[in-house]
Amino acid sequence: MVNQIPVAERAARIEYAIRDVVVPAMALEAEGHEILKLNIGDPIAYPGLPTPRHMVDAFQSSLARGETGYGPAYGSSSLRAAIALDEQGKGWNCQSEDVYVCHGVTEALQIIFSATLEDGSKVLAPGPHYPPYMAYPQMYGAETIEYRLDPDNDWRLDFDDIESKMDENVRLLVLINPNNPTGNVADKEDIQCLLNIAEKWPNCMIIADEIYDGLDFTGTQISVASQSTTVPVFTLNGVSKVYYAPGWRIGYLAIHDPTGRLVDVRDGIERLLRSRLCASTPAQAGYLAGLEGNRDWMEEYSRKVVQQRDLCLKRISEIDGLEVQAPGGAFYMFVRLTDPKWAENDKQFVLDLLHEEHVLVVHGSGFSTEMGRGHFRLVYLPNAELLNEAFDRINRFLQRHR
Ligand SMILES: Cc1ncc(COP(=O)(O)O)c(C=O)c1O
Repeated sequence: MVNQIPVAERAARIEYAIRDVVVPAMALEAEGHEILKLNIGDPIAYPGLPTPRHMVDAFQSSLARGETGYGPAYGSSSLRAAIALDEQGKGWNCQSEDVYVCHGVTEALQIIFSATLEDGSKVLAPGPHYPPYMAYPQMYGAETIEYRLDPDNDWRLDFDDIESKMDENVRLLVLINPNNPTGNVADKEDIQCLLNIAEKWPNCMIIADEIYDGLDFTGTQISVASQSTTVPVFTLNGVSKVYYAPGWRIGYLAIHDPTGRLVDVRDGIERLLRSRLCASTPAQAGYLAGLEGNRDWMEEYSRKVVQQRDLCLKRISEIDGLEVQAPGGAFYMFVRLTDPKWAENDKQFVLDLLHEEHVLVVHGSGFSTEMGRGHFRLVYLPNAELLNEAFDRINRFLQRHR
């Protein structure tokens, strides 16, 4: 056995459940099995929801014009202006200079964490949540604490729990709206409650991850920045979900600083952004076309997604052993396993289902050890035929293991 050069602790601690379960699935595929994949939050992985043509054309034209050099560190001026206008349409006074274009929300998160967290800092994030909110803060000596989403009440935010977990070390309070993996949507009243809590802690800022905001089926989703007159807000969004182009790796953070307390933090963010050069130049042209072009196509896409959501809800209601709170947005469902055998070991459920029925979902505990346990996440982007086949197999599996 060769002596291994040690890996840094911070990297060794990272877990990403969504991709971890892909390893055994790939092994089965290598043996020639076909896997029904309900695990990928990527619309392009499924037929019927392609990146809109006019955006692809704009990306290609940018390449054809030879726009393959480095761009400005904070993003192209035309894209920053278009994003600012879009955010103004969501109800707050966003200016181009408040917008910073990144390699997706994921890079924006690393920049924000890097600029705001120190040893002993805390990030308060929903439980369950998108895994990087747990994985990244520890790299900066900080800790992520989860606040409870109510599993019996449409995964609504538990404000008493949030209030009880706030202290002077909580630098970032996270709202993912709509949420991945539960699909719950926080409305105006919820956001007001959240702001009322955050306001009491002068060093607390809010991260509003609104990457699924155009996939709100309740009509109640609202920008956090539009509601805040006191608390600083980092709004996060991008091209990955609502514009169906996750592989382009373009997103942004927009700073709302209503009382002018983020001068130093903003300076830190700008330094970090300059040091990593820029986001992809031609992809920014593609995103610009999406923002400036006609958006009627979104309705048709959403209709398809909602139909598939409704199909899943119907199938789940007919299967003994499953329960679900209807999601209000995004394209995920967080399904409860009612049999204690699986509820206590959701990862085993996922692995056994994969091996026996060749259906791949993600274990709930991967989104929160405590608050996601006993669940699995499915993506309802596959078409009706594939979803029906997957539910037939899930049903067969559950009945066989009763
Ligand atoms: C809540 C949430 N935020 C951010 C992302 C990733 O965004 P991006 O592709 O812009 O990095 C995801 C991807 O699944 C997500 O679910």
